[in-house]
Amino acid sequence: MRIAVTGATGVLGQEAVQALVADGHDVTGITRRDRGVPIVEGRGATAVVADVFSADDMTRTFRGHDVVINTLAHVPVGMSALRPGAWREDDKLHAEASVAIAKGAAAAGVNKLIQESTVFLYPGNGSEWISEDLPLAVRNQAFRPRVQEMRAAVDFATGGRSAVVLRLGQLFGRDPATTHALRATRAGDPILLGKPEGYITLLHHKDAGRAFVAALRAGSGFYNVGGEPITRGRWAKDLGTEAGAKKPAVFYPEITQALVGTRLELQRRSLRVSSVRFMSETGWWPRIGPSTPGWSRM
Ligand SMILES: NC(=O)c1ccc[n+]([C@@H]2O[C@H](COP(=O)([O-])OP(=O)(O)OC[C@H]3O[C@@H](n4cnc5c(N)ncnc54)[C@H](OP(=O)(O)O)[C@@H]3O)[C@@H](O)[C@H]2O)c1
Repeated sequence: MRIAVTGATGVLGQEAVQALVADGHDVTGITRRDRGVPIVEGRGATAVVADVFSADDMTRTFRGHDVVINTLAHVPVGMSALRPGAWREDDKLHAEASVAIAKGAAAAGVNKLIQESTVFLYPGNGSEWISEDLPLAVRNQAFRPRVQEMRAAVDFATGGRSAVVLRLGQLFGRDPATTHALRATRAGDPILLGKPEGYITLLHHKDAGRAFVAALRAGSGFYNVGGEPITRGRWAKDLGTEAGAKKPAVFYPEITQALVGTRLELQRRSLRVSSVRFMSETGWWPRIGPSTPGWSRM
């Protein structure tokens, strides 16, 4: 198939491009800057420089493609997420670029849109499992861009087209956020939010890349994509082991956690997310877990 990937130079996009090329697809990777071109080409795709905020530019770029995969994001790392304006770019990408991409894809005659989303939109659910049917906790204005993005995907899925929204677990692997967490763990600095008995659903980048390939086989809908959920206390131990530290990763004190605000509150939620729907529909399964030795170098 001819497949266009937006955010192709990013953590998720590079994995998606590589996995799609390995699966035999003809892939176009989109970047806004010339220096993104060798990154895309290095993963085996054709690079196109285009403006993801322009539906017209996206229509031109997507013509002749069967599928568009949107992996755009700009997530701030660690406590920099608390700085004023830290989420401005991420919000703009979801509220505006994702909408332009969905519209451009429809106008270009693309049949299928695969849209990255996140499990962090679910409410904390203690030790109870979370399936796709649980209503999202998105009433706060801060989540409006993610809601607009989902609406754009749903609007795309009319007139015989299909849209697959992947609610990805917390990414881990060789990326800025995890590298930051491993560094803090080595130094003995606090890095984790939530409670040790709360659940976390993780997704290794390589498995995320394979999930975008598997999503080609999925019908329209929302799908959770993550590994076997573990407690945050277990994750603290796994981070410690991978970091080569003497102790597990440290949780922020409750008093600090109470002050993190709406955006980081998501990371305090207990999210025991089931990916059974995606696994049974596509045959995808997570191959790399947080207890797989060397996961931060894969
Ligand atoms: N579910 C999750 O847990 C989750 C989801 C996403 C990210 N993250 C984490 O967040 C950290 C940062 O990753 P990321 O994916 O957000 O960032 P990223 O990998 O740096 O960005 C993704 C791509 O989006 C494009 N982009 C970013 N800002 C843009 C803008 N203002 N205008 C147009 N294009 C823009 C860039 O492409 P060009 O510059 O080539 O145009 C970039 O390569 C990583 O550690 C990652 O693992 C976690």
